[in-house]
Amino acid sequence: MQNMPRKGGRKKQVTPERLMQLGFGYAPPLIIGAAVNNKVFDTLDSGPKTIDQVSKIIGASQRGLRAIMNALVGLELLKKDRQGKYSLTPESENFLVSTKPGTLAGSFPMIMQRLIPLWLKLDDIVRTGRPAESRNQEHPGTEFFAELVENIIPMSYGSAQALGDKLKIAKAKNEVRVLDLAAGSGIWGIALAQKSPYVRVTAVDWAGMIPTTKRITQKFGVKDRFDFIEGDVLEGDFGNGYDVATLGHILHSEGQERSRQLLKKTSRALKPGGTIAIAEWLVNDDRTKPLPSLMFAVQMLVNTQKGDTFSFNEIKGWLEEAGFKRVRKLEAPGPSPLILATKL
Ligand SMILES: C[S@@+](CC[C@H](N)C(=O)[O-])C[C@H]1O[C@@H](n2cnc3c(N)ncnc32)[C@H](O)[C@@H]1O
Repeated sequence: MQNMPRKGGRKKQVTPERLMQLGFGYAPPLIIGAAVNNKVFDTLDSGPKTIDQVSKIIGASQRGLRAIMNALVGLELLKKDRQGKYSLTPESENFLVSTKPGTLAGSFPMIMQRLIPLWLKLDDIVRTGRPAESRNQEHPGTEFFAELVENIIPMSYGSAQALGDKLKIAKAKNEVRVLDLAAGSGIWGIALAQKSPYVRVTAVDWAGMIPTTKRITQKFGVKDRFDFIEGDVLEGDFGNGYDVATLGHILHSEGQERSRQLLKKTSRALKPGGTIAIAEWLVNDDRTKPLPSLMFAVQMLVNTQKGDTFSFNEIKGWLEEAGFKRVRKLEAPGPSPLILATKL
């Protein structure tokens, strides 16, 4: 422990506690992932159970279950009563049971298998400035994103619905043409299509992703109002005359140069008065917060060649350069507010 001088002459005691806690940062996603993979949350969905009961149902060791289930109590993802019965919390019941709509259960095994192994190379990545894998390229990007996109639906479904409300899609009297760029699951187009039967969506993504987009739009019951275009967002011809274009979580993996080109191409595809909506992990102008967006920039360092997280003002400048006006924020569920702008 050291005493450091502080403004105003008083001294603040510096302790190693916070660093020691940060050192355990790897543990929660791995514990949650192990519990998901061993069906702990699914098993508790039918009611509170002891370690012995859970062990008999899923066949995992009592020692292992005791350790992770107690840690999950500490993480406030399980509760334990005086009889030693464990039960779900509202959060784990809604988001960690694999059968629930909007579940995040699949995300944690994916973090374990697809993300953490690459992050283990971070010291080399920092030294060379080169990613462990270039997931911004069609391969291995398609293979990675085909697994990811369904898991991130909960991140964007609420924001896409908020976008539909803001644009008053439900009151449309004529066809509303939506261009869903880097569609993935198609969740942006799906949420808008659910607002009105007048919505018709064109979804653009790499060829290897389109079967996943078709499957998920089918699952949501709106596939018949979708057209699909296979190809790179900068290469494919997606036509023009659109009322709305959505760019859900694509600029960060493209990097600055390609993002600026994409915004110009999107501007050409929209009708005058059309709206572009961008979902991103925004940082502040000084790149000092918020922490999730700063860490997401490291995710882009590890997984892409030129990816990064950007500020509202950076993206605003690129939008204006591409011929958009009234660049504004829309508060919506998700990592950051949406960015909306109108084509001149
Ligand atoms: C992070 S996911 C976002 C999916 C969806 N828009 C959402 O918000 O949930 C990125 C998507 O962009 C696609 N993608 C990435 N780079 C692309 C490119 N250069 N051309 C076409 N699609 C691309 C991926 O296949 C993936 O479906």
